[in-house]
Amino acid sequence: MFKPLSVYFHWPYCKSKCPYCDFFKKVQKNVDETSLVKEYISELEYYQNLVPQRKVQSIFFGGGTPSLMNPKTVEKLIETVFCLWKPQENLEITLEANPNSDRPHLFSDLKNAGVNRLSLGVQALNESDLKFLGRTHTLKEAYKSIDEVLKVFDNHSIDLIYSRPHQKLEDWEKELQQAVSFGFKHLSLYQLTIEEGTVFFNKGVQALEDEKASKMYQTTVDFLREHGYPRYEVSNFAMPVYESIHNKCYWQGDDYIGIGESAHGRLNISEQNFAYVHPHISEKLSSHERAEELLIMGLRLQKGINKTHFKEICGLDFDTFIDQEKLHTLVAEGFLIDKPNVLRATDQGFLVLDKLVLELF
Ligand SMILES: C[S@@+](CC[C@H](N)C(=O)[O-])C[C@H]1O[C@@H](n2cnc3c(N)ncnc32)[C@H](O)[C@@H]1O
Ligand code: SF4
Repeated sequence: MFKPLSVYFHWPYCKSKCPYCDFFKKVQKNVDETSLVKEYISELEYYQNLVPQRKVQSIFFGGGTPSLMNPKTVEKLIETVFCLWKPQENLEITLEANPNSDRPHLFSDLKNAGVNRLSLGVQALNESDLKFLGRTHTLKEAYKSIDEVLKVFDNHSIDLIYSRPHQKLEDWEKELQQAVSFGFKHLSLYQLTIEEGTVFFNKGVQALEDEKASKMYQTTVDFLREHGYPRYEVSNFAMPVYESIHNKCYWQGDDYIGIGESAHGRLNISEQNFAYVHPHISEKLSSHERAEELLIMGLRLQKGINKTHFKEICGLDFDTFIDQEKLHTLVAEGFLIDKPNVLRATDQGFLVLDKLVLELF
């Protein structure tokens, strides 16, 4: 049986830089897409030589703003992936889009290019917070794009950022209610983080205090659980069967390749783990290094870590790798649930996940 492979394309170009964002991006008009496609294809071929016998389970166009790409470019890249590897039956092809009003057929063109899941970066559902977040779209444009995405695609997701400074819980609850009413199959809801080097950081914008942020997070989780969107990862919520195959590949430790500037990947080849950074710089990871990554990523999932899968990837026995004394304390304190083949966080554990993980190894 062929092992699954996921493919990430990074499209680094944006119309402008949002003040909170520290993703790798460039503001540039007139991008030479023909040359970029050549570079992307040669990267794909490099990886095909390394792992020829795989089945592609997901393709993700992320950014930056990949909805600025010409849909023909998207189509060419998808076709190339199919020439190099066999696709899995339920292959997921996602593209991240920003709301726009200047390209009326964009979403149907993207669908015709092969995209079957659209992730729309709305970020806020009121005019003043859209401005605060430095977005280039208005609320009206957001609604228009939401309508179009829901009409054109069967599988769709919306991104919102909350825990904005001065945001009141009751205002966020109203936005949540509205987000649910649209009928997206998946929601990615991120608490605002102030990242070093961003405009917000330099201006001294403060994140919401921990206590308020935790309350907002738990309210979000409870509300969505009641409304048919159980959490499957810290910031990701989906109707049953609409969890993102691509996102889960990172958290489960499946293999993926990253194409484009700043992209990275993980490959398990002949039972050795490798980290890749653009362009083709590889580093062999020790079993211990990979095990740490699997623990940090795996506990973000609601279903937690499958201990058998963990051993298959890094070669270490999970219960031997973990500090058992600390584990027993954290279980007794109600932060973790430890079963024979699974370790997972409780609701209380999700509130302090970053600290929890560090205690375990
Ligand atoms: C690569 S980004 C942007 C995708 C797309 N260009 C957009 O702007 O919608 C993916 C998601 O990360 C989230 N994000 C980026 N920076 C963040 C921050 N500092 N705090 C919280 N969420 C953030 C946003 O919700 C965004 O949609
Ligand atoms: S949030 Fe999206 S549009 Fe804004 S700078 Fe980051 S990648 Fe670009």
